[in-house]
Amino acid sequence: MNTKDVSSTIEKIYKDAGDFLPLNGTDYVEFYVGNAKQSAHFYKTAFGFQSLAYKGLETGCRDYASYVLAQDKIRIVLTTPLNSKSPINDHLRKHGDGVKVIALWVDDATKSYSETIARGAKSFMEPIKEEDENGYVIRSGIYTYGETIHLFVERKNYNGTFLPGYKTWQTDYNPAPTGLKYIDHMVGNVGWNEMNTWVDYYKKVMGFINLLSFDDKDISTEYSALMSKVMSNGNGRIKFPINEPAKGKKKSQIEEYIDFYEGQGVQHLALATDNIIETVTALKSRGVEFLTVPHIYYEELLKRIGEIDENIAELANLGILVDRDDEGYMLQIFTKPVEDRPTLFYEIIQRKGATSFGKGNFKALFESIEAEQAKRGTL
Ligand code: FE2
Repeated sequence: MNTKDVSSTIEKIYKDAGDFLPLNGTDYVEFYVGNAKQSAHFYKTAFGFQSLAYKGLETGCRDYASYVLAQDKIRIVLTTPLNSKSPINDHLRKHGDGVKVIALWVDDATKSYSETIARGAKSFMEPIKEEDENGYVIRSGIYTYGETIHLFVERKNYNGTFLPGYKTWQTDYNPAPTGLKYIDHMVGNVGWNEMNTWVDYYKKVMGFINLLSFDDKDISTEYSALMSKVMSNGNGRIKFPINEPAKGKKKSQIEEYIDFYEGQGVQHLALATDNIIETVTALKSRGVEFLTVPHIYYEELLKRIGEIDENIAELANLGILVDRDDEGYMLQIFTKPVEDRPTLFYEIIQRKGATSFGKGNFKALFESIEAEQAKRGTL
């Protein structure tokens, strides 16, 4: 079955069953970081995110500070503790900087909570109503893999900048955006033999469907391997691939992540652009570091994927990868980890019809990741 057939089958299943957890999209992604002020500077300078909202001592919040940054539909929140008693410290001590919250935009946060709890979700936060002069928001939350959580955000009765408790954050320093539009997918790394546990969790608790699967034969090099299953919600707006390590001659990149994150967590966020050449050129000039692939990849590219609109030399110069499926092609590139622990990184993606995830690039890509692992002594 090709991906188009899979999508229409999913739509039919949902029409028949009724989606018990309708999701409008990603609301925001919140990171716990050691120094939110400096992280915000990095995401503005390097990635072109814009200042949006702030919460901290100046707004009467004594325990933590949060900076909200936006670029088109993408919203990220960078949160840091303001004293040693904050439980955020426990998360930071164990995991380092990383994703704590994947917040999902819903019409009914109370129902989202009761439906998922009834299906076996572990509660993080019962529905809470927060309000200010701009209206009210209801949020609730459940745990997913590791210490990561999903919050359900109902904001149909709110017209403030972000959430109650935040003030609009205006800054004099506002570097230009880099063309990032929305979050295409977010990938979780889970432990040995845990992938199917979490695939079942997303199926049972959140009503997701397994869109695609990759086994260790698809994703392996001479040294390391991984397995992956892509989970999607009913309307396809939320896609969560789940990776687990697989046995190879040396250490899998997933195992390296789990060792350094000290547990399961978000591996990468894929950010979509309409012009990957312009976006990656801008990101590189601002200091974002990307993985590179051997030049031979581009010598064989046309043979593998056929004609494309882009100039191959330009793609080769930037290190952008291309893959094709039944519906079109896609261009993608991966950053190096964005903190000292080799954990979280970003993918930049442009889809030209293709709905898949770059299976044809796995081998070239993983050889590149292994070269970096070898430098870190963790292969
Ligand atoms: Fe990805």
